[in-house]
Amino acid sequence: MLRNMSIRKRLMVILTMVYIVTMIGAVTAGYYVLSRDSLREAREKTQLFATVMSANQKYMARYIRPEIMDLLPDTYFPEANVGIVMMGETAKMIEADYPDYIFKVASPNPLNKANRSDAFENSIIAGFDNGDYETWEGSVTKAGRHYYASAVPVVARKSCIWCHDAPETANPEMVEEYGKDSGYGYEVGDLVGGRFIYVPMADADKMTMKKLAGFGGGISLLFLVAMLIIDRIIIGTVVKPIEDLVEVAEDISRGKMDREFNVKGNDEIKLLADAFSRMKVSLAKAMDILRK
Ligand code: HEC
Repeated sequence: MLRNMSIRKRLMVILTMVYIVTMIGAVTAGYYVLSRDSLREAREKTQLFATVMSANQKYMARYIRPEIMDLLPDTYFPEANVGIVMMGETAKMIEADYPDYIFKVASPNPLNKANRSDAFENSIIAGFDNGDYETWEGSVTKAGRHYYASAVPVVARKSCIWCHDAPETANPEMVEEYGKDSGYGYEVGDLVGGRFIYVPMADADKMTMKKLAGFGGGISLLFLVAMLIIDRIIIGTVVKPIEDLVEVAEDISRGKMDREFNVKGNDEIKLLADAFSRMKVSLAKAMDILRK
């Protein structure tokens, strides 16, 4: 196919192919690097969020819960002594400023129906149960939104049982607030749910696409300029001189022996022109001999 084309066309076709291959390679590599960066960033945010939340919980367990238990042993005050309640309330405040960041302690058997695990969370909790992994993190799409999620299992301890055993033994205020249907039946060592953190990836994805578009645009522009310059050079140094040679050769073949092969520069075309000039001289001599 390339053989039947003019030099100029052939070069442009080759350059276009190089452009396509470069573009595919560069965009694929760029996408890989940028996605890896935004995943790393999301992972850092997830870890920071998780660390802050568990620091809050530790603070409560260390400084507040023991005091409250001492001072008000019979008072139902989960905001001050139940880690999950405190984290849930803190998360609501965080979500007021960062609505796309989700913190959820999910359970298939929840006291608070809002904490009921969805299909994705159930599958992760099932993985904890089967021993597939001890913690989980990765990309997930929820309600059409892309998140980076991290999950750790929540296991019942002895201290949990007095609230989560049975509605009859739990604090009546709690039972009144959450009902008797679910959230009970815990036994020590049971896997009762998972702590999930979702960090939104939509902005990072948009940024990746924007950077890729800029990158691809830059490469295209570079190739376009290079192709224009190469085209000019090819026309000036190859196509035009060869056309001139052809024109002079045709004139000479029709007997106009006064035409000269003139080529500027010092390249292969100049060598060709010199060879043609010598051939013209020989031709003239041969014709002279024939005429005599
Ligand atoms: C003082 C009572 C109390 C104790 C003790 C307690 N919880 Fe809870 N737990 C609650 C309440 C109340 C909620 C509902 C919070 C909300 O409204 O989101 C809850 C929520 C949860 C949830 C989220 C799903 C749901 O039921 O809504 C899990 C999981 C959970 N608790 C596990 C535990 C574990 C594990 C422990 C022990 C380490 C524990 N709880 C100790 C009262 C308690």
